Amino acid sequence: MNIKKAVIPAAGFGTRFLPATKSVPKEMMPIVDKPAIQYVIEEAVEAGIEDILIITSRHKKSIEDYFDNEVELDILLDSKNKHEVVEKLKEITNLANIHFIRQKEAKGLGHAIWLAKTFIGNEPFAVILPDDLIYSDTPCLKQMIDQFNKYQSTILGVQRVDEDKVNKYGIISGKQLSEKIFEVDNLVEKPNVENAPSNVAIVGRYIITPEIFDILENLQVGVGGEIQLTDGLLKLLKNQSLYAYLFDGKRYDTGNTKGYLEAVVDYALKREDIREDFLMNLKSVIK
Ligand code: UTP
Repeated sequence: MNIKKAVIPAAGFGTRFLPATKSVPKEMMPIVDKPAIQYVIEEAVEAGIEDILIITSRHKKSIEDYFDNEVELDILLDSKNKHEVVEKLKEITNLANIHFIRQKEAKGLGHAIWLAKTFIGNEPFAVILPDDLIYSDTPCLKQMIDQFNKYQSTILGVQRVDEDKVNKYGIISGKQLSEKIFEVDNLVEKPNVENAPSNVAIVGRYIITPEIFDILENLQVGVGGEIQLTDGLLKLLKNQSLYAYLFDGKRYDTGNTKGYLEAVVDYALKREDIREDFLMNLKSVIK
């Protein structure tokens, strides 16, 4: 079955990036000159996704505005003969069919995903966390979909993390079937370093089968008083095989200051129109 729909949960408060995120959604923070969320939407589109549901909140109106037409701005730019910019703006609004729903209360990632139930219906779907930018030759989501096509079951995007960072992630354990694939036998959300079953962490990309929705509907709150997607996946494991895939690519956690700065610098250096001047400036400040 083709994966054509994706859910992007973007209703969290972004407390790790305060004070900026008090009024600017972290998903709208620019990586060079595009908001972070545009990169993950482009990744989804390159992977063949046609319909995207963004879970927002009342603090995140600017995300909806960004993917809407700005007619007055187009007229102004056209009058100044800046037609190329108008075209660029149009491309953003035409990237995919983008839908929105609001999470009225930040009850956790599991709850945010549950809100997509009607939109998804009865088909497997992708979840992309917009904090996690992944730079790779083959879009990470495309790699994940290829794995889904092979295993026909839920696939979790994973990376190995430093042992002292396991308490920041959902951690899996399982049988390693090949260099890049594990058959999962356990998942724990933010374990203590001592209790972590491994250092293989779930990061920002999932292909999930629709059985998850009934599970999420009846899930109790977990770590941090939130309804945790990881807890829902653990229940899903009772009824189906789950696989974890060590994807290729460099991942940036743009939800915290250091990861964000790393992303800005690396993405700027990848831009031919910026690289030279930017590099010269960097060299001049690095002592
Ligand atoms: P995070 O924990 O990374 O995001 O949630 P956060 O809560 O916004 O950030 P911090 O930790 O306070 O800095 C993972 C993803 O789940 C979404 C977030 O927007 C993020 O994309 N999320 C989280 C929701 O949509 N709703 C929630 O209730 C919680």
